[in-house]
Amino acid sequence: MSEPNIASGQFVSNCTADAMDRAAEVLKSGALVAFPTETVYGLGADATNAAAVARIYKVKGRPADHPLIVHLADMQDIADWSDDIPEYAIALARDFWPGPMTLILKRSELAKDFITGGQETVGLRVPDHVIALALLSSFKKIGGKGIAAPSANRFGHVSPTTAAAASEELSPYLSAQDLILDGGASAVGVESTIIDCTSQLPRILRPGAITAQQIADSTGLSLSDSGEEIRVSGALDHHYSPEAKVLLDIEPISGDGFIALAHIQTPEAVIRLASPKNNDEFARVLYTALRAADQQSLARVVVMQPTGNDISVAIRDRLLRASRGR
Ligand code: TXA
Ligand code: MG
Repeated sequence: MSEPNIASGQFVSNCTADAMDRAAEVLKSGALVAFPTETVYGLGADATNAAAVARIYKVKGRPADHPLIVHLADMQDIADWSDDIPEYAIALARDFWPGPMTLILKRSELAKDFITGGQETVGLRVPDHVIALALLSSFKKIGGKGIAAPSANRFGHVSPTTAAAASEELSPYLSAQDLILDGGASAVGVESTIIDCTSQLPRILRPGAITAQQIADSTGLSLSDSGEEIRVSGALDHHYSPEAKVLLDIEPISGDGFIALAHIQTPEAVIRLASPKNNDEFARVLYTALRAADQQSLARVVVMQPTGNDISVAIRDRLLRASRGR
């Protein structure tokens, strides 16, 4: 009936207010809750609980020195996690939260090494998804400070944009108390724009739906592009990769998977995996299409990259990494 289906496979598809309160209790008890956001699904834990956060790393198979994004119910909550917030970061938060943007700020006492990977900074985001926000506010109601959540995939794999994909990635590693909340397909489809706000000028560490132009317009500042090494796991060479070999902008051969904008015709004997009509739709369907290549055991998938300065910057960034393989 209306009782959420928690017992079988920890899958919750009936995300009522009651179910969110129960999921918040699950987080408080130290267990994990995978939840939908508008970008991709996250694997959540109480961001103040070292043991719970340690389980995220275990379940993901992720090296422990990679920092996690703390998800917040409300923009005001950033004051808990950082006591040094530049004006321009506040402008960004006002303009784009809730939304697909993560701000890197100098950390407060609350942000321990197990969140920041030992760095003096912390990543913060207010996601724009009804279920994520309901979970975050239920958690806040019972004293939660924030939910640490990386994308809900095994390390180096493609991020999940549906509950089924999150389950496929993580179910074998989750335990009986953990939950997966089903909130449908993520509307954006690629991970948030990460902006370093610890210097005079904002700097993009990972492109996403919030573009460089939007950041410049919001802050009235020009973006820093200092090429210094960044500690973003998504910035590793090999990331976001399916099993299939990803090849960019070449003529596909018989039996290849093929992803391209709708106006590009499907070459003969090639398996069309997606035909998005525009760049936003391209972002939305990309990860599902890459997963489909693996479900069909394709050896190769050819992607024709979209052009522009919009979300296609993020798409090309992920495709470049995916093309370097696992
Ligand atoms: O859209 C998203 O950002 C999704 C959803 C679930 O919110 N989350 C996500 O998390 O993509 P994850 O962990 O898969 O990628 C976050 C990236 C990592 O590469 C991490 O290294 C970087 O953010 N990051 C987190 N905190 C950081 C910090 N203090 N300094 C630099 N990079 C940081
Ligand atoms: Mg990730």
